[in-house]
Amino acid sequence: MKFFLDSAIVDEIAYALDLWDIDGVTTNPRHILASGKPMLQVIREIGKLVEGTTKTVSVEVNPHYRTVDEFVCEGRKLASLHPNFVIKLHCIEPAFKAIPILAKDGIRVNVTLIFNAVQALAAMRAGAYYVSPFIGWKEANAEETRDLIADIVQIRDNYGFKTEVLVAAVRNGRQIADAAVAGADIVTAALSVYKDAFDHPYTRDGLAKFQEFWDQGQYA
Ligand code: E4P
Repeated sequence: MKFFLDSAIVDEIAYALDLWDIDGVTTNPRHILASGKPMLQVIREIGKLVEGTTKTVSVEVNPHYRTVDEFVCEGRKLASLHPNFVIKLHCIEPAFKAIPILAKDGIRVNVTLIFNAVQALAAMRAGAYYVSPFIGWKEANAEETRDLIADIVQIRDNYGFKTEVLVAAVRNGRQIADAAVAGADIVTAALSVYKDAFDHPYTRDGLAKFQEFWDQGQYA
């Protein structure tokens, strides 16, 4: 399963590329705002970090857009900025028409803000490159999400869609493991989520104990 970083902070992305060889990046309007930079500037900077690789960077169209023409026009514009850019379209009906139009130009679409399996099916049927179910948002609303991920993966496999299932808004290590158990292709999460998930108090306690033994013993 691939690990994507959900961020538009260039230093964070550089860190995760260097230390964990993350497989891609997802951005959204919240992340762009948090970067403190204009969108076009920051996505160009992120593009430079993945230059010459196959790692994708998902960049989102204006969330106010509601028509096929808006999606196609903005999708073409953003995709022309970098070959690794995948265009994020929000999951509303015009996206299902815009996806195949963009695909004809070789432009890949990540359908974002997916909360049920039928939204994912409609996006896959239209030819989405990624579908992004937002599990953290659902769990914040006390909704179970393991079945949703499993259903989307099963539907994808039943019909042989080429779409990759990108589990998004992942908030903790348990959700990363849930996505992997369900056979998702990708998770995307913040830097702090990965850092917390890669850590365990017993690992730290155990290390402290081994250091004590080490210091009392002899190496050679
Ligand atoms: C995914 O592509 C989204 O950017 C993301 O996971 C949304 O989650 P957030 O609530 O952390 O912004």
